[in-house]
Amino acid sequence: MTADLAGRRILLGVTGGIAAYKAAHLASRLVQAGAQVQVVMTEAAARFVTPLTFEALTGRRVLTDLFGPQELGHVDHVELAHWAEAVVVAPATANVIGKLAAGIADDALTTVLLGTAAPILLAPAMESRMYLNPAVQANLRTLASRGVRIAEPGEGHLASGRRGPGRMAEPDALLALVGELLAPDRSLEGVRVLVTAGPTREHIDPVRFLSNPSTGRQGFAVAAEAARRGAQVLLVAGPTDLPTPPGVERVDVESAREMYQAVMDAFERGVDVVIKAAAVSDYRPRTRLEQKRKKTGAAWVLELEPNPDILAALGRRRRDGQVLVGFAAETDEGHAHARAKLEAKNLDLIVLNDVGEPGAGFAAATNRVDLLWRDGRTRSLPLMSKEDLARVLLDEVARLLGRAGSGDA
Ligand SMILES: Cc1cc2nc3c(=O)[nH]c(=O)nc-3n(C[C@H](O)[C@H](O)[C@H](O)COP(=O)(O)O)c2cc1C
Repeated sequence: MTADLAGRRILLGVTGGIAAYKAAHLASRLVQAGAQVQVVMTEAAARFVTPLTFEALTGRRVLTDLFGPQELGHVDHVELAHWAEAVVVAPATANVIGKLAAGIADDALTTVLLGTAAPILLAPAMESRMYLNPAVQANLRTLASRGVRIAEPGEGHLASGRRGPGRMAEPDALLALVGELLAPDRSLEGVRVLVTAGPTREHIDPVRFLSNPSTGRQGFAVAAEAARRGAQVLLVAGPTDLPTPPGVERVDVESAREMYQAVMDAFERGVDVVIKAAAVSDYRPRTRLEQKRKKTGAAWVLELEPNPDILAALGRRRRDGQVLVGFAAETDEGHAHARAKLEAKNLDLIVLNDVGEPGAGFAAATNRVDLLWRDGRTRSLPLMSKEDLARVLLDEVARLLGRAGSGDA
C-alpha cells in the first residue's frame, strides 16, 4: 500500500556525495506528487549542488547552517524535526550513516535526524569498498535494527568509473519507499507471531559445544518486520549479540532442548503464526562433562543423540487457521529435501536456503531463497537483504492468513 503524497510533509536530507545531483530529481518528483518538501543539506552536500537548486525546486529555504538565523520558529532544527512526517536522506554518505548510528549531532541534518520521531529512509551511495567496509555495514545493520529503512544501493556504474554495489537507489524507487513510510503496513495487527532465531549450543563440557554459524539476523529481521506490521511478537533466540528489535518480546535460550521448551510454552499460550528461522542442532552429545576435559593427546570419540524435533512437534499440534513456516538450509538437492521436510512436518510454507550459494545463508547480510508451499507452488526470489526477505515472507504469511501485505499494493 503506497500513500498519496499530496500535502504530506517530507524532509529531504542531502549529504556530500556525487549522487547529490540525483537528489534534485527526487525533490522534483516529490513536489510533483504534491508533497511539501523541506531540504536540509550538509556543508559537504552544498559543495556538490547549491542550495539554490533545491530552493527553486521546492519553493522553501534550504537549511544548511545549524547556527544561522532561526527563521522557522524558535529553533529551526527542532521545528523541522517535529514538522516532518517522513524523512529521506538521499544520498546518505558513509559519514552520515556512521554519525546517525553513533548518535552524533554536529550539523543541521544530523541534529534533525536525532530529534525526529518520523520514520527515516536512508539511501546509501558510495564507492563499493566504502559500502562494503565492515564499519559501514555494521552501522547499517544497527540502524535497520532500530527501525530505520535502508534503500539498498544497486550494482552498476559508479562515479569513479568502477562497477560494483554502492549506486544510489533510483529516485522513482525512493519515491515509492517514501510512500510506504507514510502508509505503514499494519497487515499483521493483533496477530500473535512466534519467531525463532539464531543457533543453539550443545555443550560437551563447560568450555566446548557443538553449534553452527547462524547469526540470527534473518529471524531477527522477521521479528522486527512483524512487530512493525502490528503483530505481537515473541522471539525465542539462541546465543547472539543482536539487539532486541523494537516492540518485540524476547526469550533467550542456549540449547535445542531449551528452545523446544520455550517454543512449546509459547505455543500452549496461543499463537497464530510460527516462523522457525533458528538453526537448531539436530544432535547433542550423549553426556555433558561437569568439568573441562583435559587435553590428553588421545582421540576423543563423541557419541551424539538426537534432539527433539521442534518443527515436527509443532506440526502435530497445529490447529486449523494457524500458519507454520520453516526454513531448510541445504547443500544439495535442495528442492527435494525442502519439500520432504514441508510434508513431514506439516508446514504451510518452507524457505529453502542453499547455503552453498554465494551471498546466501549463514552469516551473510543477504539471502537467496526459494519459497515452497504445501499446495505445490514455488517462488524463486532474487538475492536480497535479509530485511527485504523478511518483508516478502511476511507478505506471504499475511496472504496465508487471508490478510493483504504491502506487496499486494
Ligand atoms: C568528489 C567527491 C565525491 C565523494 N563521494 C562520496 C560518496 O559518493 N559517498 C560518500 O559516502 N562520500 C563521498 N565523498 C566523501 C564525503 O564528501 C565526505 O566523507 C564528507 O565528509 C561527507 O560529509 P557529510 O556526510 O556531512 O555530507 C566524496 C568526496 C569527494 C571529494
